[in-house]
Amino acid sequence: MPEYALLVSPSTNRVYSDAAAGLTLAELAVFGERVLGGALGTPRVERMGSVEYLAFGAEGLGERALAVLSNLSSAFALFALADGRLRPLELRRLDRFDSDLLTIQRYAGKTNETFTKLLLNVTLASSAFAPELLERTFTVLDPLCGRGTTLNQALMYGFDAAGVEIDGKDFDAYAAFIKRWVKDKRLKHRVHVGHVKGHRRIALDIGLDKAGFRQGKALHLAVVNASTLESAEVYPPRSFDVVVADAPYGVKHASAGPRGELSRSPLELLKEAAPVWREALRPGGALGIAWNVRVARREVVAEALAQGGLEPCDSPPYRRFQHRVDQAILRDVVVARRPGA
Ligand SMILES: C[S@@+](CC[C@H](N)C(=O)[O-])C[C@H]1O[C@@H](n2cnc3c(N)ncnc32)[C@H](O)[C@@H]1O
Repeated sequence: MPEYALLVSPSTNRVYSDAAAGLTLAELAVFGERVLGGALGTPRVERMGSVEYLAFGAEGLGERALAVLSNLSSAFALFALADGRLRPLELRRLDRFDSDLLTIQRYAGKTNETFTKLLLNVTLASSAFAPELLERTFTVLDPLCGRGTTLNQALMYGFDAAGVEIDGKDFDAYAAFIKRWVKDKRLKHRVHVGHVKGHRRIALDIGLDKAGFRQGKALHLAVVNASTLESAEVYPPRSFDVVVADAPYGVKHASAGPRGELSRSPLELLKEAAPVWREALRPGGALGIAWNVRVARREVVAEALAQGGLEPCDSPPYRRFQHRVDQAILRDVVVARRPGA
């Protein structure tokens, strides 16, 4: 079986330190299982020279499979491996914009952009629409969107993005950032400012190119300043392919109730929000959520999603995402599907 070696981006090592290889293995395994029809052998860590690679066998990795693997959140370079020699392969990322869309904003509470990409990837791959990963204009909702890291990654992929955020300052900061950014990049765009169900809303149509924009082709971005529990009221039900969120950790970010009152329990928020997020998803859509295991065990979070009418994914690769962020935060990922595609 032909062998391949993936070089993990140095920034990934900085973000996760010891957990980088394990998280990449898990992401690779989910792609292998869900998008590449089991074409990948079991990946392993291999040291060549003084550098670690993730090596894996794969039966005839065609153009399409290579294009899928190019979008792994930690992919820096990919090689065909034969007789101890590395032959570089072209990475074809979906990326539509400059990388500063994701890196310019710096603020306390930002979800790291590499992890955000991993969470989005794993959720996309788990939806019924995974076979169209490279062609479909996915619709992505982050119902706890903060200052928009998930929304920016969705736009980067050329997808439509929508967010809900209860904190007015975060809403304002993201609105200011994205308006400034499209202007600075001289992208054709239209801004719509208004209200939905009494909540502030900003929306942008963003052209990928001038000719397309003139013909009405644009990416659609919207953010509403509301509680996540109102997600299915401020956006049409069954309108999203994936819902992706990094839940409040119960440490620096308290979760907030419908009128902004603070509650220290992210688990209570998840329990209440699960049926609402399910309602926002199309049948066959998937929800991916990251949370702090120190405030709720994995089984408890999975059960809350199941109670909300979602089906948690539980094959072995999905159980390998737990990693340490800092002393107070041990982060994990659960993915669940809305049945019925
Ligand atoms: C871990 S942060 C997500 C950060 C985001 N991914 C980013 O990179 O900017 C969780 C977010 O959930 C928001 N939040 C907490 N409770 C909420 C609620 N009930 N409705 C909507 N947003 C809420 C917080 O204000 C915070 O911005």
